[in-house]
Amino acid sequence: MNDLCKKACVLFGVGAVLFLSSCSGQQEAEEPHADVLTVGFSQLGNESDWRVANTESMKSTFTEEGGYELLLEDAQQKQEKQIAAIRNFILREVDYIVLAPVVETGWDEVLAEAKDADVPVIIMDRMVDTEDGELYTAWVGSDMREEGEKAVRWLEEFLEEQGRAEEEVSIVHIQGTPGSSAQLGRTYGLEKGLAMHDNWHLAAQVCGEFTQAKAYEVMKEILLETKEMDVVYCENDNEAFGVMQALDEAGISYGEGGDVILISFDATEAGLIACMEGRINLNVECNPLHGPRVEKIIRQLEEGQVPEKESFVEETIFEPEDLTADFIAARGY
Ligand code: AHR
Repeated sequence: MNDLCKKACVLFGVGAVLFLSSCSGQQEAEEPHADVLTVGFSQLGNESDWRVANTESMKSTFTEEGGYELLLEDAQQKQEKQIAAIRNFILREVDYIVLAPVVETGWDEVLAEAKDADVPVIIMDRMVDTEDGELYTAWVGSDMREEGEKAVRWLEEFLEEQGRAEEEVSIVHIQGTPGSSAQLGRTYGLEKGLAMHDNWHLAAQVCGEFTQAKAYEVMKEILLETKEMDVVYCENDNEAFGVMQALDEAGISYGEGGDVILISFDATEAGLIACMEGRINLNVECNPLHGPRVEKIIRQLEEGQVPEKESFVEETIFEPEDLTADFIAARGY
């Protein structure tokens, strides 16, 4: 073979390799997209430690490597933004919509639109209250009424153990976002307890919006009116942090051995640390790690199975003596 011929062969060979590798490269680039499921996720906001952990759970579950494209929209506590996000997901022809609803009512119209477009909607965390139960495919979350009832059962026993069951009990109630399942359920529990005990009274009932800042602000106002309180019932950990700040500034002791019994919900890392340290007497668990639970529902639907319409997460309660630093660290949120 002369030199010219050798060069031609080499060029042909390189060209062939480049052509083949460009073809297979194209396939490689396209392959991961072939089975990608697009999930539109309307998150209600970013108000609390719980919510941050919940968003993180969704992000770490619905990854590109796992075969998903996650379209995440933060509605900043506004239902109209959630409705607009759902409409946008429908237009983009996503495979699934996941909705963490800010409040329970007002979803019928937009959910009917998703149903008409054949996009399954999975409700996560708080519930929706719709005329027609077929407007969504499945729901996964916590039993918020049961959470409230657990807190009240604990308070009854705690007062009994302290020999205070017959005494007058003055309760400050810091509520969460009005009309949300978390507020409705936890308020239901407390109000049931108030109805059952003639000696339990509400000293105040105000909205703390599930945030530390708002709870601090409203607790400061309450403390201007009265310092007579036996219990502060906060509907989440961030509200409890705001309340602690206001009580500290007023020089009022709380928690184990303190003047005020502090009850909280969520059991996030910071909430459990406060409980372990005795600054919160009771922390009722509300588990935010719904990403894998939602994925299980999607997998079932992909396999043609019918998922449970409603799945409640099992939860517990925590008192200071139940907790260690290792236990809290291992929970990961
Ligand atoms: O819906 C769950 C509740 O919402 C959590 O208790 C609270 O922290 C969050 O904001």
